[in-house]
Amino acid sequence: MSKMLLLLVLLSLLSPAAEALVNGLALKPTMGWLHWERFMCNTDCDTDPDNCISERLYMQMADMMVKDGWKEAGYEYVCIDDCWPSYQRDARGRLQADPKRFPGGIKKLADYVHSKGLKLGIYADVGEKTCAGYPGSLGYYETDAQTFADWDVDLLKFDGCNLKWTLLGDGYIKMSEALNKTGRSILYSCEWPLYEWPFQKPNYTAIRETCNHWRNFNDVFDSWNSIKSILDWTASHQDIIVPSAGPGGWNDPDMLVIGNFGLSHDQQESQMALWAIMAAPLLMSNDLRDICPRSKDLLQNRRIIEISQDPLGKQGHRSAKGNHFEVWERPLSKNRLAVAVLNLQEIGGPRGFAISGVPSWKVCDPQCNVTLILPQYKEMGVQTKESKLILKVNPSGTALLTVTPINDFGRLHWKNTN
Ligand code: GLA
Repeated sequence: MSKMLLLLVLLSLLSPAAEALVNGLALKPTMGWLHWERFMCNTDCDTDPDNCISERLYMQMADMMVKDGWKEAGYEYVCIDDCWPSYQRDARGRLQADPKRFPGGIKKLADYVHSKGLKLGIYADVGEKTCAGYPGSLGYYETDAQTFADWDVDLLKFDGCNLKWTLLGDGYIKMSEALNKTGRSILYSCEWPLYEWPFQKPNYTAIRETCNHWRNFNDVFDSWNSIKSILDWTASHQDIIVPSAGPGGWNDPDMLVIGNFGLSHDQQESQMALWAIMAAPLLMSNDLRDICPRSKDLLQNRRIIEISQDPLGKQGHRSAKGNHFEVWERPLSKNRLAVAVLNLQEIGGPRGFAISGVPSWKVCDPQCNVTLILPQYKEMGVQTKESKLILKVNPSGTALLTVTPINDFGRLHWKNTN
């Protein structure tokens, strides 16, 4: 093989299907906290000062993130969603924070969050108004990008309400360029495909070149139905969306609602496991000041976070479905594999699933090492192709495990077996 050809082959092995936005950010799925699902557009600081959208809320979340081990577990971004600005831009056309709820302004808040070793995210919209009716960025992309950079903001969630769908691509690309032009590293979180899907199949090559992550489907709610609908949408579009994910750009199935009101503990485990398999951003929307220890331990489970943040950066997919079970798999670095088995039968008790029947069990030929992570951590030891390993999975719960191939010499092998 000529040297040139060898180089091309090596390059094609190294780079994912499409080029990512090259801002050096989101090389692994983003981890942090985002206010929307839990706190929504609560602006009533007079009667509900603890839960309204105000600088106090983000400062308290930042405090909790450091104090309770969230930062140490990898959660880094504290993100503002809709309803932070004034209804009017300032005399120079710049967005400004609501003066009553953010008396110190966003720059001061960013300084505070940075002083804790964390990063600050903000929210704006590609159209005339945000989804909740605050000023949109249409006609102000450069001004707003520069304002966010001047405030030392680290992430922008850019929503897609109130714009004709044919202008979405242009708007999202212009804002990406405007952010880049500021010279500040600002992670760019988009909703471009979500707003385009009702009209046409989005161009994921362009989206990956423009954004660090992108929402494809409906807003998450605090309910098992909502989680199931997101998983269903993802699985039924996986051929289109999975290849577009990789270091620098990720599909975003929306926030983790673990620690709130609507999911049983098994369902919370299912969300955590499947979000890790999907290489999804892990943006919690909950109240870190008041969260039960089991939810906290689940969100901080280092073995699940390791799967989410695996350096290979490949998104997993649903590989089998039947008898009210679903099997999801994610290829990991060093030829390992993460496998999640979801029990969708919401009647009866725990059901057994023969894991050695799944096609990817071929990595256990001749041998593999299996670690069970959910519902509880357990080293399952060395297994072979013939092992009859039965996992017990609770209704609407998930069994999560990693499989590490072992070669003929009894050592973990890193060679590609595909
Ligand atoms: C849209 C987005 C949500 C949230 C709200 C805010 O619905 O998809 O994530 O940002 O707008 O108004």
